[in-house]
Amino acid sequence: MRPRVLSGIQPTGSPHIGNYLGALKNWAKIQYDYDSIYCIVDLHAVTVYQDPAELRAKIEELAGVLLAIGIDPTHSSLIVQSSVAAHAELAWMLTCVTPIGWLERMTQFKAKSEAQESIGSGVMQYPVLMAADILIYQAAIVPVGDDQSQHLELTRDIAQRFNSLYGDTFVVPETRLPTVGARIMGLDEPEKKMSKSAAGSGHAVSLLDPPDVIRKKILRATTDSNPAVDFETAGAGVRNLLAIFQAFTESTDEALRTQFSGMRYGDLKKTVAEAVIAALEPIQKRYREITAETGYIARVLEEGAEKVRPIANDTVKKAKRAMGLYTP
Ligand code: TYM
Repeated sequence: MRPRVLSGIQPTGSPHIGNYLGALKNWAKIQYDYDSIYCIVDLHAVTVYQDPAELRAKIEELAGVLLAIGIDPTHSSLIVQSSVAAHAELAWMLTCVTPIGWLERMTQFKAKSEAQESIGSGVMQYPVLMAADILIYQAAIVPVGDDQSQHLELTRDIAQRFNSLYGDTFVVPETRLPTVGARIMGLDEPEKKMSKSAAGSGHAVSLLDPPDVIRKKILRATTDSNPAVDFETAGAGVRNLLAIFQAFTESTDEALRTQFSGMRYGDLKKTVAEAVIAALEPIQKRYREITAETGYIARVLEEGAEKVRPIANDTVKKAKRAMGLYTP
């Protein structure tokens, strides 16, 4: 049997080129080498308030985008997290073996809890549910961007702790980061990672942005006080534009240096913008085709859930038995 891959994405905001280069591109690339399950994590999204109608629409939109970037439902299972109830069931069992101190140390928890006056306790449990998403399928590999590395370490710790308390139950998964593009930064604020929720229209390029919007955003990107590209002294903004170009075009380090050394920033931005537009054009075309076919997305999601439910239920049964919970 091929080793299993699992990864997830939240249906909040608009999926952007950071999501694509950090994770989604890899999902599509490795799906034929593994038994792959890709998950739209709506239960994670509701750890902060979401407008119900909007959330519903975002789930379908994201499913369309994932199919458009090349997730092939005849090979991979594309699922919505809440349609496989066992994720939440396993999350409770894992919660009971996870010390609170481990969760308090998570940087995303700290950032989210500092930003809001009152938060739901789901914000703290967030990484335990993420561990459940992964461990429930006995996934060996988890392709993500760099911002998820700490959550993945925690998942490994939770799996090991459960295994040592109750006997070997879970595969301990490995994190798979891309070599280029693991952390794409905001175009307007290159010290901060590009994020779906960041305010400001010049922050992120959405995968569905039309060409003129992409051009405008990239031409306005923050650079530094140098006039032209110098690989030794380039600031965060220029390094980010170069990383975006390299990740989209898969150029080698050498080719990148040859192409861009000494190039004026105006030309750098134009070149990067055209490369991004060219890479997103076929994705956007497929998205339009996929969403024009009534009922297709719902069918893919239902078939995905049906395919993976038995795997998830098996693992829950195994974990229940290991813990001594009642299994008729
Ligand atoms: P999410 O929805 O924030 O992001 C989805 C994927 O995109 C990657 N990513 C980035 N990569 C590079 N540069 C960026 N600026 C950037 N922003 C986001 C993320 O690393 C991620 O791989 N907690 C997860 C969702 C999740 C999950 C899981 C992931 C829930 N369960 C199980 C893997 C396995 C999240 O919020 O991703």
